[in-house]
Amino acid sequence: MKLKRITHINRSCGKSARLGCLLVQAMVFTAAAQALLTIEADRPVAQVSPTFYGLMTEEINYSYDGGLYAELVRNRAFRDNSQKPESWSVVAAGGASAEMALDPQQPLNAAIPASLRLAVSAASPGARAGVANSGYWGFPVKPATTYQASFYAKAAPGFGGAITLSLVSEDGATVYASARVAQIGEGWKAYATTLATDGKVVPTTKARLVLSVEQPGTIWLGFVSLFPPTWKNQPNGFRPDLMQMLVDLHPKFLRFPGGNYLEGNTIETRFDWKQTLGPVEQRPGHPSPWGYRSTDGMGLAEFLRWGEDMGAAPVLAVYAGYSLQGAHVEPGEKLQPFVQDALDEIEYVTGPVTSTWGARRAKDGHPAPYPLHYVEIGNEDFFDKSGSYDGRFAQFYDAIKAKYPQLECIATVGNEQPEGRRVHSRRPDLVDEHYYSPVAAFLKESGRFDNYDRRGPAIFVGEWAAYETAFVPWDKRSEKEAPTPNLRAALGDAAWMAAMERNSDFIKLNCYAPLLVNVHGRQWRPDLIGYDALHVYGSPSYYACQMFSRNVGDEILPARLIAGASQMAYSVTRDRAQGEIIIKLVNPQPLAQVVRVRLVGVHSVNRKGTASVLEALPESTNDLENRKNVVPVTSELSDIGREFEYGLAANAVAVLKIKAK
Ligand code: AHR
Repeated sequence: MKLKRITHINRSCGKSARLGCLLVQAMVFTAAAQALLTIEADRPVAQVSPTFYGLMTEEINYSYDGGLYAELVRNRAFRDNSQKPESWSVVAAGGASAEMALDPQQPLNAAIPASLRLAVSAASPGARAGVANSGYWGFPVKPATTYQASFYAKAAPGFGGAITLSLVSEDGATVYASARVAQIGEGWKAYATTLATDGKVVPTTKARLVLSVEQPGTIWLGFVSLFPPTWKNQPNGFRPDLMQMLVDLHPKFLRFPGGNYLEGNTIETRFDWKQTLGPVEQRPGHPSPWGYRSTDGMGLAEFLRWGEDMGAAPVLAVYAGYSLQGAHVEPGEKLQPFVQDALDEIEYVTGPVTSTWGARRAKDGHPAPYPLHYVEIGNEDFFDKSGSYDGRFAQFYDAIKAKYPQLECIATVGNEQPEGRRVHSRRPDLVDEHYYSPVAAFLKESGRFDNYDRRGPAIFVGEWAAYETAFVPWDKRSEKEAPTPNLRAALGDAAWMAAMERNSDFIKLNCYAPLLVNVHGRQWRPDLIGYDALHVYGSPSYYACQMFSRNVGDEILPARLIAGASQMAYSVTRDRAQGEIIIKLVNPQPLAQVVRVRLVGVHSVNRKGTASVLEALPESTNDLENRKNVVPVTSELSDIGREFEYGLAANAVAVLKIKAK
């Protein structure tokens, strides 16, 4: 290895990683290798897919309930457990006495078949009795914040009293905000109020919501809801901090609603979109395959609004007659209702207000049709050992193409799955391939798509992620590991993105999965963005994704990297409008690399450029306490020419932007 001058070494290690980073960099100067990247800037080979990059989402890891969907009350409809009111407890202080129970004799409506009965035998203004909700691992109490509370209630004859709603500390000693709703009547009625904290409140999650009374009697609660301020103040809306993280990824599309969540464990518990529409207190919710019940507060209407708010087009996955525990619907007559359901769903998304389902969408608050280009038929149907997918896909495909010829249909069995599981009867417009791989495999396989057999349908990499621990993502033993990945995984992810981007003439869409994790409630690791009730952070992989998705370019430039034995990865594109060449480099080695960049076919190069670099020790990461430990840092590059050297730090992802004609 020859020692070279390192012209653009980036020294922006995260705080905790800094010492180690300096040590590594010291080592670097004695052992840097050189690589040669030759870019043929005058010979773009193809357009970058305009749908690079997107987001994949489903209800997993409390992604919506306890996550993006801003509702704070857990088990608001008392359906989480039919035997007991989970997440609720009795509060009775200073001589008060009360009992609570689910009451199927007093349902609110068909969607909420049991209410919560609170029978108070002793209470007074100084000794209140009530029920407390523990939220999704607490409540986010913030200063100077107004929360919207609403609930359905009724009282036994003769009660006539008030209900007080309070956000209180876990021990009940501190009241952060409180409001009184007078005169609870004998029939079911909706009540609403606001809870406002003052400016001095110290932020905490260690809080509960209490609904209490100050006199004996019986009341029933039918549905209890509390929302903090939401993204753009939309009702039934989204958590602003999480939304901002997603918007910052500049997603081009949103794949929803799954994933396994689309399929359900059984046909009955699939994502039945028609059940997810309308007033939230009339949505029954359903058990999800990830071990907890979904409120369906995030229903089809909310998914669509969410995508629109982010500027992301919907990639709509429709249930295709196969569920996780292996049940399938035979193609033919039995499958027809499910095909019709998919057609109705597409009409809900795209139909004019004069159509049945377009009118329903308008009633739900969105008269304008949504733009829809891709429909995915099922999810991971290569698991269907019955061999029915070929027939099921064909039936959906024919019906969709007949009514909506402009739509592209995605099959969920990849080009390289065993012959017997693949789709033969119809040629899918795209196939969805999923890749969850150890970091080393992503690095090794980063040439995979360069040699891919392009005779098959184009590819949607609808789920991918590198994992850096010994456990596959669904292995329960990974529970001891952090829910989000460290920098080592981000290096694998970046190499994988570079590989997809180089081939984005053929790989039309891609999205990391899973996207979200409540750190207290995960079923899967690694996940891109972590949070609790109060804080959100992006993993190093999140920042790697952001570096790629915000610097896509529109033309793929042919490039050749000679890097000796090292495993560097790269992708080169051009942004025509900006006149910029975008060079993405990934160095997964603990040694810096001097990269000699040779731009062929350019007449002039701006001497100044920029470099954004994500680097740290491989084990460095972000978490709730250290949210910005590993983040990219942008600096100026000088002395750029048709040939220049760039010092690529060890364990680093770099995006160089160079103006050239
Ligand atoms: O992303 C987590 C799960 O992985 C998805 O639900 C499923 O499609 C895949 O197996």
